[in-house]
Amino acid sequence: MKDSAAGHSNEAIISADLLRQLAYNDKMAELGKISAGVVHELNAPLSVIISASQMILREEGVPEVVQEMISRINTEAQRLSHLTKGLLNFSSHDDTISEVDLNLTVDFILNFLNFEAARRAVIVLKQLDCTLPTIRLDGNLLKQILLNIIMNALQAMEENGGKLLVETSNGASDSVCFIITDNGPGIPIETLDRIFDRYFTTKKPGDGTGLGLFVTKSLVESMGGEIKVTSRVGGGTTFMVTLPIRQ
Ligand SMILES: Nc1ncnc2c1ncn2[C@@H]1O[C@H](COP(=O)(O)OP(=O)(O)OP(=O)(O)O)[C@@H](O)[C@H]1O
Ligand SMILES: [Mg+2]
Repeated sequence: MKDSAAGHSNEAIISADLLRQLAYNDKMAELGKISAGVVHELNAPLSVIISASQMILREEGVPEVVQEMISRINTEAQRLSHLTKGLLNFSSHDDTISEVDLNLTVDFILNFLNFEAARRAVIVLKQLDCTLPTIRLDGNLLKQILLNIIMNALQAMEENGGKLLVETSNGASDSVCFIITDNGPGIPIETLDRIFDRYFTTKKPGDGTGLGLFVTKSLVESMGGEIKVTSRVGGGTTFMVTLPIRQ
């Protein structure tokens, strides 16, 4: 057990550790338990494909049709490499507090969930306020918060015609906020009070742990922020998160 030299009680340290552990487990579950090792292994063959295709493209006398195909192989391999680097970056667990750009983080997560949105034919709209200041926090935890809320919204919109709107804006008194709205089935009033409870889920066993929003709320509050939800059955759901610029 760690000591409390930094002025924190042992209890606070333990619950922070637990929270981090839960956040990490939940993140890994959301990512389909993709292990960082597998992703890492993918990078080696991808870099061979990228450099070999570039070498072929530099050769003289390659027929135009072959050049075109090699160039497509190169582009797709670069795209995969970009994705795997993103996954590795996501699963790194290094507790770093830094100045984080909320809009860039939203872009990163939407990019990351592109496939999940596309396979449900969900239209994703963004309204990002480009005047936002940076916020000082652990960027990986912010990614986790966004991932949990957006993934829930996508999972709620399995039917055709799903629309997701992600907005960012300046909040009141030195804060920034983001709002995530879906046009899914909404949450019944009797359930709404329970969605942040630990292990509360309406998903089939194996499909959800019920930890996502519990962890999300705990993380937001540990950053000094606030999370609110409004929902109407048949009318969709909106989550609004406000985070102070400096904790
Ligand atoms: N956007 C949403 N639309 C409709 N229901 C939602 C939405 N977001 C959350 N919920 C409800 O809240 C419940 C709890 O969400 P939470 O993220 O904590 O767990 P989960 O998604 O069920 O499981 P896990 O996050 O582990 O996959 C969900 O099971 C679902 O019933
Ligand atoms: Mg969830």
